[in-house]
Amino acid sequence: MCGIIGYIGVEKASPILLNGLRQLEYRGYDSCGMACLDKDIEVRKGVGKINEVNNSFSFEEINGKMGIAHTRWATHGGVTQKNSHPHISNNGKIAVVHNGIIENYQEKRDELKEKNFEFISETDTEVIPNLIQYFMDKGGDFVDSCKKALTELDGNFAILAIHRDEDVIIASRKGSPLVIGIGENGFFAASDIPAFLDHTKQIVYLYDEDFVVMGKTLSFYNLKEGPVFRQTHTVDWDVEQAKKGDFEHFMLKEISEQVETVKKAIQQEKAIVENICDEIRRAKGIFFVACGSSYHACLSSSYVFSKISGIHVNVVLGSEFPNYTHFLNKDSLIIAVSQSGETADVLEAVKEAKKKGSKIISIVNVMGSSLTHHSDEFLLLNAGPEICVLSTKTYTAQLGLLTLIAYSLAENYEEGKKKLEFLWNVIYYLTSANTRNKIKELSEKLRYVDHLFTIGRGLQYPTAMEAALKIKEVSYIHAEAFAGGELKHGTLALIENGTPCIVFVAEDNEKEILSNAMEIKSRGGYIIGIGPKNNEIFDTFIKVPEANSMNPIIHLAKSVTVK
Ligand code: M6R
Repeated sequence: MCGIIGYIGVEKASPILLNGLRQLEYRGYDSCGMACLDKDIEVRKGVGKINEVNNSFSFEEINGKMGIAHTRWATHGGVTQKNSHPHISNNGKIAVVHNGIIENYQEKRDELKEKNFEFISETDTEVIPNLIQYFMDKGGDFVDSCKKALTELDGNFAILAIHRDEDVIIASRKGSPLVIGIGENGFFAASDIPAFLDHTKQIVYLYDEDFVVMGKTLSFYNLKEGPVFRQTHTVDWDVEQAKKGDFEHFMLKEISEQVETVKKAIQQEKAIVENICDEIRRAKGIFFVACGSSYHACLSSSYVFSKISGIHVNVVLGSEFPNYTHFLNKDSLIIAVSQSGETADVLEAVKEAKKKGSKIISIVNVMGSSLTHHSDEFLLLNAGPEICVLSTKTYTAQLGLLTLIAYSLAENYEEGKKKLEFLWNVIYYLTSANTRNKIKELSEKLRYVDHLFTIGRGLQYPTAMEAALKIKEVSYIHAEAFAGGELKHGTLALIENGTPCIVFVAEDNEKEILSNAMEIKSRGGYIIGIGPKNNEIFDTFIKVPEANSMNPIIHLAKSVTVK
């Protein structure tokens, strides 16, 4: 994942681009760069985080009222100055920033080499400015050459391109996110809205293969369809939502926001939710499709669907979905769940299901994302921007909304809503400084461990899986989740003196899960209990009230992380 931003307008571009890059740094931070056009294109780039690179290269000194910038997370080619973006064409006239992966770059590179083009980086991106140059050398203008170059590329891209002699920025996307911002003093294009939220809330969401010429006006094309109309939307995201404020980091801020975000997720139009419930009832075969944390939210919700509404749902990872497509037909229903709405495996799954005539409903946080374009209907999570790479507030928002749907399926919409609304005071307590300090204390004990296990039964099992994912992702500690009953089938052998195990307890399976915890304890394990009641087995206990089918929301609201 990388972040890109472009600006063209009446203001100096470099401070705007630098500020935008800082908002996009969550997308990649191993190197960054900027190219602005004044009399000529000036490029500055380097290895390191944005502030480090800026200290050496002073981005804000670059003049010009249009420019493009990039923050990188290396995929093709190591973390080096020459691999960082922007990349420049052989004639020095074209600069490109890119997020995505060009699958046929090697083939294009070889073709261009045969035509005497030289490459200085190891990236897939460098073929783009050179391919544009190639078509221009053959007599094409900048805009048409960009279109031709992009149609030759396989894979995913969001690109921004500028040319030394042109007063336009070309913005185009296929499979990677890119949104356009319409400000009073210019136009913006960026991987994510917060990059220009300080300047405008007027957004145009782009479809796959859209191609925009940003100059004094905006012209929208689609590489397949030709000229197209794209609507302008106003985002209701608050500028402050996209900023860290007094919080140490975005993860902490977003964990704290859950008091509000669970409430917002369930503020849906009842008639729309009921309509979706009718689709679910009508379907012959329902599939939840998602990846990562969103997959865990689906897994958890499949228990809730079965328990509350008596409906069976197949839960499939986006990347595994191709193996299930032979079960699909026009009566199948896919419920795709995604924070970003841009996860490639989920999008691929949805496209395959559409080919079979299946109906697609999605639950997504980002309005205008690709998933919303590919869905017959969608519900928004309304959680605001999730800047931290770790899903926290959107995970609980997904659980909240899916639980509301389960209640609605059981003709108990209002009861479900009331119960979910009531959770706010539990979440408030669990995300308070008090609980945070307790977790900090615990993390001091755990930070140097090599392995950690998490266990739960029933609804607490997906919770254990999500907790393990969070611990791996943020603490780089190997963490593995098990259904309580599974440990005895081999894994117990790994428990040694002091091996930590987080045990998620709920009233309906207390006896069984405590017996599993005992098995670990008797092998020397260090037991951290999370649940409604303390127990002598626990070495550490974090009290979380019993909330039955809503346990998954509050068990992770405090987010079990080890710093
Ligand atoms: O945007 P999505 O919900 O589709 O993303 C899916 C996963 O990549 C995501 O949930 C990932 O596992 C989280 N960042 C984990 O914290």
